[in-house]
Amino acid sequence: MKDLSNRPDLPAEIARRRTFAIISHPDAGKTTLTEKFLLFGGAIQMAGQVRAKGEARRTRSDFMKLEQDRGISVSASAMSFEFGPYRFNLVDTPGHSDFSEDTYRTLTAVDAAIMVIDGAKGVESQTRKLFEVCRLRDLPILTFCNKMDREARDTFEIIDEIQENLAIDVTPASWPIGMGRDFLGCYDILNDRLELMDRADRNRVAESIKIEGLDDPKLAQHVPAEQLSKLREELEMAKELLPAFDRKSFLEGHLTPIWFGSAINSFGVKELMSGIGDFGPEPQPQTAAERQIAPEEGKVAGFVFKVQANMDPKHRDRVAFVRLASGHFERGMKLLHVRSKKPMAVSNPVLFLAADRELAEEAWAGDIIGIPNHGQLRIGDALTEGEALKFTGIPSFAPELLQNVRAGDPMKAKHLEKALMQFAEEGAAKVFKPSIGSGFVVGVVGPLQFDVLASRIEIEYSLPVRFEQSQFTSARWVTGPKADVEKFVNANKGHIAHDHDGDIVYLTRLQWDIDRIERDHPALKLSATKEMM
Ligand code: G4P
Repeated sequence: MKDLSNRPDLPAEIARRRTFAIISHPDAGKTTLTEKFLLFGGAIQMAGQVRAKGEARRTRSDFMKLEQDRGISVSASAMSFEFGPYRFNLVDTPGHSDFSEDTYRTLTAVDAAIMVIDGAKGVESQTRKLFEVCRLRDLPILTFCNKMDREARDTFEIIDEIQENLAIDVTPASWPIGMGRDFLGCYDILNDRLELMDRADRNRVAESIKIEGLDDPKLAQHVPAEQLSKLREELEMAKELLPAFDRKSFLEGHLTPIWFGSAINSFGVKELMSGIGDFGPEPQPQTAAERQIAPEEGKVAGFVFKVQANMDPKHRDRVAFVRLASGHFERGMKLLHVRSKKPMAVSNPVLFLAADRELAEEAWAGDIIGIPNHGQLRIGDALTEGEALKFTGIPSFAPELLQNVRAGDPMKAKHLEKALMQFAEEGAAKVFKPSIGSGFVVGVVGPLQFDVLASRIEIEYSLPVRFEQSQFTSARWVTGPKADVEKFVNANKGHIAHDHDGDIVYLTRLQWDIDRIERDHPALKLSATKEMM
């Protein structure tokens, strides 16, 4: 049997798991690639089933329609499928830049990322931002250069741009032969194969021909002379100029292998999938405040990295997405909900198999399970077999945009509060209750989120609301010795609010104000992030 990981000591079921996300700038082809993964992973029968999502995201109103159709977005949040000897868990990252905090948290639940770039556009702004988040966690990155069936940039230029822009070494796993209309396929450098693209059938996998090195006469049978000499020349140069694949360096996040392909033509996708499978990584240890949790530990431990509410608006149910950090989970297990110190019987966990959800009879470290609940589970919560663990590294960011929110009907203030608390717990917005006055201040990262919130409150709670300009523009969590905090709070009542956890927040419209407080009150800390525990 193939060595499925760097760690032959891991239980086989854990060693074969690969949990990853795809990051990209909108339009680079993430949805198309996801769909091809599911197709080749046997999770869907036909291309076109996930497409609706990518298209719907394009416009504001469609986006909201999509948000209402919770079914689609939820089932697409985590998808599991088999590929050869491997079990893949693909965690979806929201594509829109307004949802970057959600994306950040999603990336805490994966062990690797695939970076998709458009061969004509190279590294774009959103790719760079997401890449930086991956780097903070030293995530191994595999790169897929998409749309090679269109006019793309020169191969060396693309590689140089990634190296320079993202400060990461790049090693070619495949090399494109021609581009645009002349794109024939790729030379698979890692396996010495020629992969030829089938233009007639977009869902067919490329023909693969074993080649014995670049002098093999078989090459000339398939590649026209001019393209062949260019290929030989470029590969020579690549060998000289670019680093060779080194698994350790890849796993440490210093080197990214790049595949060239065309997702829409199913080209290069299987090679990329084999790359994730063969090079790993297997489920990695997760960090808790107390210690590192190794995947092979016998006992189950996991953490909530995402909560999605109102999949069924009639029952206010929520699904908490849990990344299993260790152990072998079985349906019906009683786990300790560490925050409330209460046991929780997990009787209906779900696994997401493309468009369907299925009861998860069992799951292993590395898997993502969904746990339906009525609000007990929040982002950052730990579930264990008894140990009081606190997973770290799931931050909450200070919102960049603040607005006041009012219910259209003043009699419905209580309803509004309930709705807002739900969204705060879901991580969809920050909700601050100022200590003076009766309203709420809502904070988000991107303006589109206000529209989505208003629409959800109206649909899910039958409550029309208005968002209005707030006098504040920034929020900071205030911590410090109790007496100092109390004194500060009493002296600044007009600026003080509490978040949904009851933590103290200072609201202001001036950065200058924040600097002044930090200078005048050295015992206090005003932070733009807080760990969601
Ligand atoms: P995203 O999720 O990253 O936003 O990208 P998505 O997959 O939705 O793809 C964006 C556009 O790029 C789509 O075109 C898609 O068909 C196209 N595309 C994806 N992969 C390839 C490829 O390998 N080659 C070429 N030429 N195009 C590709 P669209 O016009 O927006 O949608 P559609 O009308 O094609 O469905």
